[in-house]
Amino acid sequence: MFKKILITSGPTLEPIDPVRFISNRSSGKTGFHLAMEARMRRLGPVIFITGPTAFLPAQTEIIQVETAQEMRAAVGEHFRSCDVIIMAAAVGDYRSLKYYPEKMKKSGERITLELVKNPDILLELGQHKRKNQILVGFAAETEDIFANAQKKLLAKNLDLLVLNEISEANPAFGSDENQVYLVRPDGVQRLDKSSKARIAALVWDDIVALAGRA
Ligand code: CTP
Repeated sequence: MFKKILITSGPTLEPIDPVRFISNRSSGKTGFHLAMEARMRRLGPVIFITGPTAFLPAQTEIIQVETAQEMRAAVGEHFRSCDVIIMAAAVGDYRSLKYYPEKMKKSGERITLELVKNPDILLELGQHKRKNQILVGFAAETEDIFANAQKKLLAKNLDLLVLNEISEANPAFGSDENQVYLVRPDGVQRLDKSSKARIAALVWDDIVALAGRA
C-alpha cells in the first residue's frame, strides 16, 4: 500500500551533565502501536525512529536516538523516501544551552539552568513536504484546544493532527488509554476513550482513507 512509512516515537532526552538530563513522560506506547498496526495490516515497510523507550516494535527497522537534534538528523535522512510520516515522538522543545562535561557539584540554594530551543522537526518536514507525502502530527493541549490544533495543522502543513486534550481525567502521557480528536483541514472527529492500540488502528483508518482520496 505504501512505499515506506516513517514513525517517530518516545521522548527525547537532553543531557545536562554526565548523569543528568531533561526529558518528558512519553512512554512511546502510541508510536509502538502505530508501528505494530502497520505491520499487522501489511501497509508497507516501517522505519521507526525513537527516543529512549521500552516499547520497540518487533521485526521493524529501528533507529534509536536520544536528543532532538539526533532525531532531526535521522528523520532528515529518511524523510524523502517515505510517503507516510507520523511524528508521534514527544520531542523536547528545549535543551540545556551548555553541556557540563563534569558532574555538576551542588552549590547555592538556587541555581539557574539556561535552556535553548530545539529545532521543530515537524515544522521543517511540513515546509519540505511533497504532494504525494502524508504528514501526521500530534498535539497535547490544555486550553483552546481546537483553535490551537487548527493553527498547528496549518502552520506545520499537516494532513492530520492527532489532538490529545490533557486533563486530570485524560493524562495521556504514560497511560494505556487515551481520548483524542482527529483534526483535519476539513473537520474534527472525536474518538471515544480507548486503548492506545485501538487509537492506532483508527489513526491508520484515517491515513488509508486520506491516501485513497489523494
Ligand atoms: N515536534 C517536533 N519537534 C519539536 C517539537 C514537537 O517535531 N521540537 C512535533 C511532535 O512530534 C508532535 C508535534 O510536533 O507531532 C507536537 O507539537 P506540540 O509539542 O503539541 O506543540 P508545539 O508545536 O511544541 O507547540 P506548543 O508546545 O507551543 O503548543
